[in-house]
Amino acid sequence: MKGNLHIAIDGPAASGKTDTGKLLAEELGILFLDTGLMYRAMTYYFLNSKLDENNFDLINKDIFDDINIEIFNNQNVILNNIDISKVIFSDDVNNKVSIYAGIKSIRESLVKKQQLIAQDNDIVMVGRDIGTVVLPDAKFKFFLDCSLNTRAMRRMHQDDKKKFTNEKDKLNNRDLLDKNREISPLLPSEDAVIVFNDYVNLNETVKLIKNIVLN
Ligand code: CDP
Repeated sequence: MKGNLHIAIDGPAASGKTDTGKLLAEELGILFLDTGLMYRAMTYYFLNSKLDENNFDLINKDIFDDINIEIFNNQNVILNNIDISKVIFSDDVNNKVSIYAGIKSIRESLVKKQQLIAQDNDIVMVGRDIGTVVLPDAKFKFFLDCSLNTRAMRRMHQDDKKKFTNEKDKLNNRDLLDKNREISPLLPSEDAVIVFNDYVNLNETVKLIKNIVLN
């Protein structure tokens, strides 16, 4: 793992991690992985399995061997040969993903997959626990953050039907669950560079990060 260029980007919901990470990886000519897609895929799987998240620890861990998640072109998500790229952004998944992401066995299974992908590759990986848990030895770690208002505004542009306050509440609820969970809570690694991007656009954010990485 140590010889590869690993760049970790963490941050709260809608802080621009995915767009920034994708563009950065493209400009550097290295791989990109949005780990949020994996947590969304897992959530979708378990929502449809009707397994109660409260009794989750009673399940047989072998179940994870039957859950095959593949990601193509950084956005096409295939779960056991079915394309779930769109449904993983449904309200059902949005409302539950942070609950399932707090379950130990789910995290262990996904962290293992993520570390395996990084093992032989230069990669930009984005999520909540990349700098702290998945790639603690990453050469570069960034934590993207900005105000809740800006984040809600950005999400509304992606889906005009959503009301601003409603969007704010949903993002905030997810952040609170992510920050306060027992396992791998969302927090900046001690050695991460914190980038506030309320007044910095995507290209400027990528430029700033690229300057640090290349110098
Ligand atoms: O795109 P957005 O910032 O809204 O969220 P996402 O990156 O798609 O992640 C969805 C959810 O997955 C987060 O709210 C976390 O609960 C969970 N997640 C996580 O726990 N750890 C990660 N490394 C990535 C996502």
